[in-house]
Amino acid sequence: MSLPDCSPDSVSFVSDAPLRPYNTFGIDVRARLLCRIEREDQLIGIAHDSRVTGLRRLVLGGGSNVVLTRDFDGLVLLIELHGKRIARQDGDAWYVEAAAGENWHDFVAWTLAVGLPGLENLALIPGTVGAAPIQNIGAYGLEMCERFASLRAIELATGEIAEFDAAACRFGYRDSYFKREGRDRFAVVSVTFKLPKAWTPHADYADVARELAVRGVAASPQAIFDAVVAVRRAKLPDPLVLGNAGSFFKNPVVDAAQFAALKAREPELVSYRQPDGRVKLAAGWLIDQCGWKGRAMGAAAVHERQALVLVNRGGATGAQVLALARAIQKDVFERFGVQLEAEPVCL
Ligand code: EPU
Repeated sequence: MSLPDCSPDSVSFVSDAPLRPYNTFGIDVRARLLCRIEREDQLIGIAHDSRVTGLRRLVLGGGSNVVLTRDFDGLVLLIELHGKRIARQDGDAWYVEAAAGENWHDFVAWTLAVGLPGLENLALIPGTVGAAPIQNIGAYGLEMCERFASLRAIELATGEIAEFDAAACRFGYRDSYFKREGRDRFAVVSVTFKLPKAWTPHADYADVARELAVRGVAASPQAIFDAVVAVRRAKLPDPLVLGNAGSFFKNPVVDAAQFAALKAREPELVSYRQPDGRVKLAAGWLIDQCGWKGRAMGAAAVHERQALVLVNRGGATGAQVLALARAIQKDVFERFGVQLEAEPVCL
């Protein structure tokens, strides 16, 4: 058996690398150095590689949750780790492990193909498996953390491997440890999901329920998968056609008193009561009410069918996207007194 080559020479660095192919917004900036990571030991090697000592690191998976506002004067690590397997089972669940560079949607489709449902509500979310826990992706009544078992990550500075359970990941709404303190510190290399053997449908979300009814089908895993794909295709722009990073803003959460005052003024306000008594508001609705849907500022625009999604109509800079985002935040705040928070990481 030959040992993996961990010498520094086992990775090559590309200088002055264009990042446009690696971010779904399609923003045209460059990195001082870029390196493709195809094996975990390469990350370990880079931690001790004198050629890149002291350089800042940026880990990119599918690049579907970043706004790049300027050239990156550091080393971009492009995670291209592949592989997926059924790791184990216990009485309650199947445990499925996938490498961080696997395409998320293809992975979800594969779990269904091998007869292990549970992730179907998260079909067609752009990005990679490794990015899913960073964002705690969610859609149509399910958040990734509900199916999460553990992840393995490599500490960039030391090359040490660490295992994180759900508690250590500190998941929140579109949030985790890795989006805050852990940012730039770790690269996620694989994620293990726990798929319950007793499958129950999550088919109450209005858009999905409507789609199932139109198709006249029962809520099986495959039917939910197909319905979610159809709903997303109808509403959300394909990043390959129109650059975007999914929802640009989080749905804001307000306290009960602020909600009551707002609802009295705006009876149509779309809201979801939270278990803690606070209320989540539909940011898309707030933005739409301010007249932003379909409007543009330069090449950055608000999507015509979903006001929560900002798009690159061609050649937008990160600064233009952020200027548009700020203009929207200002209008929403002036009309509703609610501060919208960006969902993607702005660099
Ligand atoms: N709405 C409008 N105008 C718009 C957009 C939405 O009036 O332009 C209204 C809708 O009619 C609906 C409400 O706002 O009553 C909510 O809209 P929608 O159901 O489309 O969902 P959302 O709150 O905009 C969230 C997630 C999505 C996820 C969907 C479905 C966030 C920030 N967004 O969107 O996640 O796919 O629910 O579960 O939580 C993402 O995070 O990138 C993302 C796409």
